Amino acid sequence: MEKDTNSRGQWASNLGFIMAAAGSAVGLGNLWKFPYLAGQNGGGAFVLVYLLIVVFVGFTIMLGEMAIGRATGLNAIGAYKKLSKKFTWVGMAGVLSGFLILGFYNVVGGWVINYIIKFIGGGISGDPAAYFGGFISSATAPVIYALLFSVATALIVWKGISGGIEKASKIMMPALFIMLIVIVIRSVTLPGAGAGLSYYLTPDFSKLTPGAIVAALGQVFFSLSLGMGCMITYGSYLNKNENLAADALIVPFMDTAVALLAGFAILPAVFAFGFEPGAGPGLMFITLPQVFASMPAGTLFGIMFFVLVLFAAITSSISLLEVCCAYVIDEFNWSRTKATWGLSIIIFVLTILSSLSMGPMSGFLIIGKNFFDLLDFLTANILLPLGGLMMCIFIGYVWGVDKAADEITQGGKFAFKLRGFWTIMVKFVAPIAVGIVFLNMLGILKF
Ligand code: TRP
Repeated sequence: MEKDTNSRGQWASNLGFIMAAAGSAVGLGNLWKFPYLAGQNGGGAFVLVYLLIVVFVGFTIMLGEMAIGRATGLNAIGAYKKLSKKFTWVGMAGVLSGFLILGFYNVVGGWVINYIIKFIGGGISGDPAAYFGGFISSATAPVIYALLFSVATALIVWKGISGGIEKASKIMMPALFIMLIVIVIRSVTLPGAGAGLSYYLTPDFSKLTPGAIVAALGQVFFSLSLGMGCMITYGSYLNKNENLAADALIVPFMDTAVALLAGFAILPAVFAFGFEPGAGPGLMFITLPQVFASMPAGTLFGIMFFVLVLFAAITSSISLLEVCCAYVIDEFNWSRTKATWGLSIIIFVLTILSSLSMGPMSGFLIIGKNFFDLLDFLTANILLPLGGLMMCIFIGYVWGVDKAADEITQGGKFAFKLRGFWTIMVKFVAPIAVGIVFLNMLGILKF
């Protein structure tokens, strides 16, 4: 079998790599989290801070991770270990994050599958808040849907880099983009959409609390798939003839475009029908179904919307699983089959716990959070920013910007106009910015 003689694999084309990397980035973070975070944190002001962090920190770390990956041709742990043994733990924290994120990602992916089925059956009858609350807190149904989502993820990863991940991303990403545009057009042309647009686009700086800035930083890491070696892993499957600096611009650009479009799809519709933008995590699962119910041809838009969300979620969950699989394939010589299914089973234990923490186990709290929220908080707010910070220190002061730039330009073969900008960002601006936000969050530095 071809896939077991070369369990590692390679991208078939640069377009495939870009689609897969953008597929990893575009996910529940863009469609589910971004609109509700923007809704909760003052709309336009949050969006502005988010954009600034993408440009200064997001692009910098994206390029750094891709360079580490392609230079070593290894998984997150192996790559750091090869370049400096002292940084092996950064890779380990990354692979651990992959496990933890999938633990709750699978659960939300399962909810999305359930909503597709509900909408195919004509939509949600009765109060969506009651439906959503009842569904996610029950003991078995959400676990079964999460299992379906995990199996779909594992099937794609099992088929390998070009035959699985690349192929799926090349089909799902364009489809997602088209569906999203259709829904945005529907949303912004609804009577009364203007209030939502102005909320989304007019910054209210009084809402820009330190908490909102921490949330924006965590969201940049989560949304761009940074800080856990995902782009190291994907970069390791790339050949030397591709221009990394260009790719590291395109991927954040696409991710940010989708996040902004998701806001345009959701917030105007929410305002048009008189709902609350600050509804939080329930915005997509409670508010939107009400919006679809009050809209002409709403069932059709509902199906389309949740299929779009599913595509986005799967092209992301496969990248999370691949980070974990690449590690055991490279370092322990596991076959892709053993890696995919073996690790998926282990991850599913976390998934069961985080699903149950929404209902039967909701009384089981760690630092005041249920298991689901704990996984989200530990990764988006702690492990990913820490991983990003360490990557900057690693490139800036250990591996060296010159070696990284040499990998990026392939010894001068490719132009790297942003080299000066990137050097300052990776050595000073990004680590200091992430460090300050991090210390603030831990309560060590107050602002
Ligand atoms: N970026 C994805 C999203 O927005 C989630 C994700 C996939 C991720 N791979 C990752 C987050 C790696 C952090 C690290 O939904």
